[in-house]
Amino acid sequence: MKSNEIIEKIIKERRNVRAFKNKTIPKKVISKIIEMGIWAPNHRMTEPWKFIIIQKNSEKRLSISKKIEKYIKENSSNNNSKTVQKIADKARAEFESCPVIMYVCSSAGKNEEETLENYSSTSIAIQNMALYSWAVGVGIGWSTGKPIKVKGLKKILEVPDSSIIAGCLYMGYIENKSVIIKKSRTNHLKKTIWK
Ligand SMILES: Cc1cc2nc3c(=O)[nH]c(=O)nc-3n(C[C@H](O)[C@H](O)[C@H](O)COP(=O)(O)O)c2cc1C
Repeated sequence: MKSNEIIEKIIKERRNVRAFKNKTIPKKVISKIIEMGIWAPNHRMTEPWKFIIIQKNSEKRLSISKKIEKYIKENSSNNNSKTVQKIADKARAEFESCPVIMYVCSSAGKNEEETLENYSSTSIAIQNMALYSWAVGVGIGWSTGKPIKVKGLKKILEVPDSSIIAGCLYMGYIENKSVIIKKSRTNHLKKTIWK
């Protein structure tokens, strides 16, 4: 396969994944994935990213997962408390059992423009990681939901209040690529304007 064909294949095949094998990802592999992230373009070379790995069975993993449960209970619009508890238990179990949880934070710039540029670069870093990960059988589930909305998260992650948490990444070896929900995209020509 030519390199352009390999790139196209990985870009199109990559999916957001949250179903993982119960298998540890070696530190060396995680480290390589992060190394791919930092090759993202970044204006003024601000290199605005920070990768925080919350190890399985760690105090921090447990502490955040409890906060996820609390967040769901406090914010659910469902008034059946048993159903809400079930949803909270499921979210907590998923967070606790996930092989790797990685938070990706983006630092604030010296003004609004730079902060936005930083956030763009950090998002590209996540995509770089997702593409490389896919190629080595590791899936990434990018979340900007409950795991980043819990109270006091920046304190737990030890990042400045001014930083933006670009995502909580659920990571693990992909259970089965063939059962991952296929997703399509609107034809790019419909999103393109030639003037
Ligand atoms: C910034 C961002 C935030 C996301 N947050 C969530 C999320 O909170 N929960 C979720 O299930 N998926 C989340 N996703 C994944 C998207 O739902 C997913 O990328 C989309 O459905 C397209 O699927 P694909 O990535 O498999 O092509 C997020 C993706 C991005 C880029």
